[in-house]
Amino acid sequence: MIVLGLETSCDETAVALTKDGEILCNKIYSQDIHSKFGGVVPEIASREHTERLLGMTKDTLEEANVKLENIDGIAVTYGPGLLCSLLIGLNFAKGLSYSLGVPLIGVNHLEAHIYSPFITTDEYSSPFLSLLVSGGHTSIVRVSGFRDYEVLGSTLDDACGESFDKVSKLIGLGYPGGPAIEHFAEKGNENAFSFPVPDPEALNFSYSGLKTSVLYAYRDMSQEERICRVADIAASFQKSAIRSLIIKLKRAIKMTEIKRISVSGGVSANKLLRESLQKLDIEWAAPDSEFTVDNGAMVGFLGYKLLKEGIRSDYNLKANPRLFLN
Ligand code: KG4
Ligand code: ZN
Repeated sequence: MIVLGLETSCDETAVALTKDGEILCNKIYSQDIHSKFGGVVPEIASREHTERLLGMTKDTLEEANVKLENIDGIAVTYGPGLLCSLLIGLNFAKGLSYSLGVPLIGVNHLEAHIYSPFITTDEYSSPFLSLLVSGGHTSIVRVSGFRDYEVLGSTLDDACGESFDKVSKLIGLGYPGGPAIEHFAEKGNENAFSFPVPDPEALNFSYSGLKTSVLYAYRDMSQEERICRVADIAASFQKSAIRSLIIKLKRAIKMTEIKRISVSGGVSANKLLRESLQKLDIEWAAPDSEFTVDNGAMVGFLGYKLLKEGIRSDYNLKANPRLFLN
């Protein structure tokens, strides 16, 4: 079964073709234009999707050597995300699905992330935990069966990736912040600053206090000191941000006695996070690097699983910027 996966929820325009869940071709265009604004500009993001989506779909078909008429389903992210960006992908998918006479499969972006580690490794049998860490979400979810979720904890304010982006912008490292902070952190001393490790109640996360501590420390520095100590700030911030994820995860494991963890979303690319997971007495799976950031492969992959279960959407499907799980 060949499924086309389309993802336009934020600032990645992404298209992939999957055959029985295997990835034939995965194309991602990360819209660099936003870096000069220090964050995603919604209007620009949707224009970029409009300009790129058709050409990228043609290229993906060509590279995978698949003809339009051989496609069995069109999977597309319909939320959460930026409304106008979602609409570009969703309407494109509806048009293609209708003209080809094949099913439209609306995919929840968060679910696509949750299952993304299993694109390349065997899927865990249920129950397992999902640590979902991206620019928009930071959650720990108990997955008790296919699409059977219980959110055990989520962020009370900023998402983890968002805090990387905001701190990066503050200290002049640009957007997206995660890879930039990680890069500078490699040359810094993670113990140079004792930023707090956020630990709100139970399994919830909070990153705004950590961000504010970095802001205060930075505000009190001379210009020269800011330049000299940028790597130390990055390393110290990263240490606190990642440690918070690990504390919560350990707590969730203890609470649920579930030791199989799917880790996904943009932040799952972070090396310190992966090294920290490696030290725990657990089984964990994270996506290959090309599937950590937003991508069409995870949409096509989940779309295939849904289609196999007979799940499809009708043409009334609406983009839902605030879609959550269940
Ligand atoms: O999953 P994703 O591509 O988009 C959302 O669904 O939000 O995640 C993007 C987020 C950004 O905030 C980015 O800074 C962060 O993931 N990120 C990282 C790394 N790579 C991307 N954060 C920490 N370390 C990284 N290596
Ligand atoms: Zn995402």
